[in-house]
Amino acid sequence: MSTIVIYKTKYGGTRKYAEWISEELNCDIVDAKKITIDDILKYDTIIYGGGLYAEIINGVHMLTKNMDKLKDKKIAVFTTGLTPPDCREYYDKMVIEKNFKEGLPQNVKVFNYLGKMVVEELSLVHRTALKTLKKIMQGKENPSDMEKLLIELCDADGDFCDKEAIGELLDYVR
Ligand SMILES: Cc1cc2nc3c(=O)[nH]c(=O)nc-3n(C[C@H](O)[C@H](O)[C@H](O)COP(=O)(O)O)c2cc1C
Repeated sequence: MSTIVIYKTKYGGTRKYAEWISEELNCDIVDAKKITIDDILKYDTIIYGGGLYAEIINGVHMLTKNMDKLKDKKIAVFTTGLTPPDCREYYDKMVIEKNFKEGLPQNVKVFNYLGKMVVEELSLVHRTALKTLKKIMQGKENPSDMEKLLIELCDADGDFCDKEAIGELLDYVR
């Protein structure tokens, strides 16, 4: 069984997990920018990782727009983000709905990990986007618990990547 880990990263959080997973599985690893769907089709098991940006899994479109070609593959998608992985409503509802418009296919399982956001590494565009988001959320009269959490997460600063988290994904693909 051949396996590949594909990742797309802006600040390196997702790459860390991709490297840990490929080391554990002793399998190929590639940056999403350097691979085409035809290359991917040569593998039986595909692991795709992307950071969350406004709930979108960075680059996952590469897989979701080709689901018909990938229907016989075993697929694991992992996200990295700042929303705590136990916020199941966020991950199982919002993130799935935004990224898998026709529902989550049976051959795809999604795993959610804590990522990394080091403020001094952020681009000006991203810093500004976070400031704007925080202002909008703070302006709401009765913010929901999720909106309160988002306000807090806009101020996060650190690397929360954790190798221990990958165990379930490894069990799934092995
Ligand atoms: C502009 C911006 C938007 C983000 N949006 C989300 C989000 O919607 N949900 C989330 O959990 N984390 C969000 N994050 C945090 C990133 O997903 C996190 O830093 C991730 O580890 C980045 O992965 P990468 O370094 O591989 O690109 C956001 C970060 C930035 C800078």
